[in-house]
Amino acid sequence: MKQTEVRIVEKLSTNQQTYPQLERAAALIQEGEVVAFPTETVYGLGANALSAKAVRKIYRAKGRPSDNPLIVHISSVDMLGTLVDAIPKSAQKLMDVFWPGPLTIVFPKQANVPDCVTGGLRTVGIRMPNHPIALDLIRQAKVPIAAPSANISGRPSPTTVRHVIEDMNERIPLIIDGGDTQVGLESTVIDCSRSVPIILRPGKITKEEIEAILGQTIDEAMDHSGSDVLAPCAPGMKYRHYAPQAEVKLVAHSEKLVQEAIWQQKKAGKSVGVLSTNEICQTVQAADRVFSLGAAGDLTMCSQRLYDGLRNFDDYRIDVILVTTVEETGVGKAIMNRLAKASEEVSDLL
Ligand code: TXA
Ligand code: MG
Repeated sequence: MKQTEVRIVEKLSTNQQTYPQLERAAALIQEGEVVAFPTETVYGLGANALSAKAVRKIYRAKGRPSDNPLIVHISSVDMLGTLVDAIPKSAQKLMDVFWPGPLTIVFPKQANVPDCVTGGLRTVGIRMPNHPIALDLIRQAKVPIAAPSANISGRPSPTTVRHVIEDMNERIPLIIDGGDTQVGLESTVIDCSRSVPIILRPGKITKEEIEAILGQTIDEAMDHSGSDVLAPCAPGMKYRHYAPQAEVKLVAHSEKLVQEAIWQQKKAGKSVGVLSTNEICQTVQAADRVFSLGAAGDLTMCSQRLYDGLRNFDDYRIDVILVTTVEETGVGKAIMNRLAKASEEVSDLL
């Protein structure tokens, strides 16, 4: 494919804004092409969700296994009518509070949603992004947009346009540059198609926040090792994810332990990167490269910078990245979920 066009679109503050600069992007979507666009979580790789042919181009561009379902993005609740079979009560409550926002809700699907969007499942994951450019792109395209994260399968999700260009240049016709994403981690995914909703992927919107709205305790599928319970309902979880080229090793947030790990890796002849807090990054010695995720305890900043941090080491031929762990409270749970996956051995499934 020829050179990808990158078009800068200045993000304005209201979700109702119309962007004339999105005209070509919307036309490409209508023609069945793939366009990368910003959302508040990570960049997405979008195509017309109602066209199997268009959706197959997404899988091709990403190199993604086709049993891993895509999230469908909508700009209004009216669009749900063409996609879902029913709106469970729990889903309605969550939509009222968290949409537009970083929450994907899994619904029973309608027959006109192509099987290749849902990996053959009888359900469909849907989200209304809280991003004025994403919302206007969907409005102008006049169709729901299926979009996974705009990275090559297995790599960390893109949070800057540079990441998207790294992975998608010459694979798609157009990238919309809307600046860095705000949240930095992919949406929380909750399956509301069952009698008791279950969180399939943790994110910025936490289990506690969801339980407070639903007034009931819900299940959480934190086990990403591909347990039997989850294999059929969250196909994406069995693949290795979020991984940079270097090996990722998790270390407790302790100056002493990080320093010991650095010496150990250096002794083995490895070049070492450290991805940690300001506090640790300022004190460690002999690392080949350090990247700070912000002040210790600032999990918002840590989420925003995490994928940029993981990716930056690729440019410096680092063999091992030592990443310090965070407390698994609030969004810390989502951060640790992504880190656990990034540090897994390459699975046989890839
Ligand atoms: O924040 C996000 O969610 C970003 C932006 C672009 O919206 N998208 C994203 O998509 O992260 P992707 O494809 O990288 O991750 C989608 C996740 C996968 O783990 C997939 O298995 C799950 O959602 N998923 C999608 N539809 C599902 C369904 N019907 N049932 C169960 N899991 C589903
Ligand atoms: Mg992804």
